[in-house]
Amino acid sequence: MTLMEKKKFDTKLSLLLYFTRGCKRWFALAVFFACAVSLLDLVNPKIVGFTVDTLISGKPAEISGLAAWFVEMAGGADTLSANLWMVALAVVCVALLSAVCRALFRIFNAIGAETLVKRMRDTLFDHIVRLPFAWHSVNHTGDIIQRCTSDVEQIKMFLSEQLTSLLRVFVLIALALTYMYGISPKMMAVSGGFIPVIIGYSFWFHKKIGSQFAIVDSEEGKLSSIAQENLTGVRVVRAFGREKYERERFEKQNKFYTNMWIRLMQLMSAFWSSGDLISYLQLLCILIYGSVLAVSGELSAGSFIEFVTYNAMLNWPVRMLGRVIANLSKAGISIERLRYIMNSEEEKDPANAKTPDFHQDITFDHITFSYTEEGKKILDDVSFTVKAGSTVGILGSTGSGKSTLMYLLDRLYPVEEGKGRILIGDTDIREISSDWLRKNIGIVLQEPYLFSRTLAENIAIASEDAGQDEIRRAADIAQLSEAIERFKEGYETSVGERGVTLSGGQKQRTAIAQMLIRKTPVMIFDDSLSAVDAETDAKIRAALKENTAEATVILIAHRITTLMHADQILVMDKGRITERGTHEELIAKGGTYAKIYELQMQQSDVGEEVKE
Ligand SMILES: Nc1ncnc2c1ncn2[C@@H]1O[C@H](COP(=O)(O)OP(=O)(O)OP(=O)(O)O)[C@@H](O)[C@H]1O
Ligand SMILES: [Mg+2]
Repeated sequence: MTLMEKKKFDTKLSLLLYFTRGCKRWFALAVFFACAVSLLDLVNPKIVGFTVDTLISGKPAEISGLAAWFVEMAGGADTLSANLWMVALAVVCVALLSAVCRALFRIFNAIGAETLVKRMRDTLFDHIVRLPFAWHSVNHTGDIIQRCTSDVEQIKMFLSEQLTSLLRVFVLIALALTYMYGISPKMMAVSGGFIPVIIGYSFWFHKKIGSQFAIVDSEEGKLSSIAQENLTGVRVVRAFGREKYERERFEKQNKFYTNMWIRLMQLMSAFWSSGDLISYLQLLCILIYGSVLAVSGELSAGSFIEFVTYNAMLNWPVRMLGRVIANLSKAGISIERLRYIMNSEEEKDPANAKTPDFHQDITFDHITFSYTEEGKKILDDVSFTVKAGSTVGILGSTGSGKSTLMYLLDRLYPVEEGKGRILIGDTDIREISSDWLRKNIGIVLQEPYLFSRTLAENIAIASEDAGQDEIRRAADIAQLSEAIERFKEGYETSVGERGVTLSGGQKQRTAIAQMLIRKTPVMIFDDSLSAVDAETDAKIRAALKENTAEATVILIAHRITTLMHADQILVMDKGRITERGTHEELIAKGGTYAKIYELQMQQSDVGEEVKE
């Protein structure tokens, strides 16, 4: 069983079979013992019938096979009627055996169910983390989580409770009907006649209600999305005083969801009560018809009791079938929802993925890109080359496509065939293994994300084998060590969820250290110095220059002082490069860059640094 082998799942069944790999044997054992329970449950009514008719009323015994052999072994009917305790003992023994089988059924069923759930969770998680960035940006986290919890639970219930019961119920119905036929074919016809009615009714009902369950599920997804979004964005909600609005939005959705369940439950209870009615009607018919037969002498008292016991025994399982059918539709929907995830295409490397050296020029060759097929062009015919070991600065208005360029370089979004190429040396990044690509490109994202672990763990998050010294060194270059030393617990300080206990600048610098520790040949800083003051910005750049002389660096910034020393500066506007050159060249040109520079120089703190 490998989680790695991935394929398309054409049908729900194929996915279900894939998930149940490794736990089918447990379910088989569970079904075996469940059937044994059904079989054993049918024995006691037989014993009671035999006792009433033969042992108490003295009629000749109508038994054969194994039962006759047992009676023979016990010393014959006469001995038994003199020692009724032996019969009682037999009843107890059968009940005991049935209890043991029931326990074994539960144990194997639980092992099967939990093995299944574990495999489902592992498989889903493994798959989801490999899904492309683009997939994650269109699918809501709340909904994905709901699919991985509720839907997984639903499928587990279906397999461990409904399906095993279904098989058991079939065995029970078949055997009970056979016995009932043996007692009185006429009464069996009356009782059996109701079975298709009950099953048909529940089938009809659950077919109707199936779509309702799908709606309820998607509403639940919406509800968890709201909750999740609000918990994640709790600061924004508070800061904007949006609590009331958000609470109302949640309450509205919650009310809607609750009402849907209430309506559904009303329908369900109407179904169960009408089902009850049919069952009682069946019992009534049997009692009346049985009494008539008993009075006319066609049916003995013992057989009558036996028959009614079997009939009562069937009552629950037959209605159970309805529930199984209900859950068939629910489980079907759940499997479909997981199939959507499992069939989403993972990031795939081409065959013979290449692993070129990254100490080479990086070329953007006529790149055109938009996030959606019909969406507007975010990048429009962008071409430039970053010489190996050089530094390129990118300046541009917000939304001009700077971050997008970097996402494309890291292959977080694919560049469509025919819409340009990105080359490392002369290898197209489409041909490079994604692991290798990301191992060689270090990127400090514009919005750093920290995990709720310690500072040291966060810095070393992408390089597990980094030692204390390396962590400290990275923190030094990122000008973070001073701040860390001021924390009571130093590097062992927990940063809280998403780094809430850190300042914006500390978070940014942690993200920088996180990248530096990996010592990648290509380093990208996407607006990574925006939250630090000009002085720290300068210090970081000086330390970087000293320590990363070999690396190819791409610096995205809004502050000109951050990138003015770059070997080449690109100015972007609306997805195009409008100016390029060194700082001096651009100033001499007197274009946008020069204007921005002029403006920024008027701000004293930035100006001072330059004067220095
Ligand atoms: N996942 C996405 N789906 C659709 N559009 C997107 C997505 N991400 C960004 N955009 C759009 O692409 C455009 C360029 O965004 P990008 O983040 O590259 O700009 P930027 O130059 O980095 O801006 P900033 O300086 O503010 O960081 C913007 O108009 C933005 O709305
Ligand atoms: Mg950006």
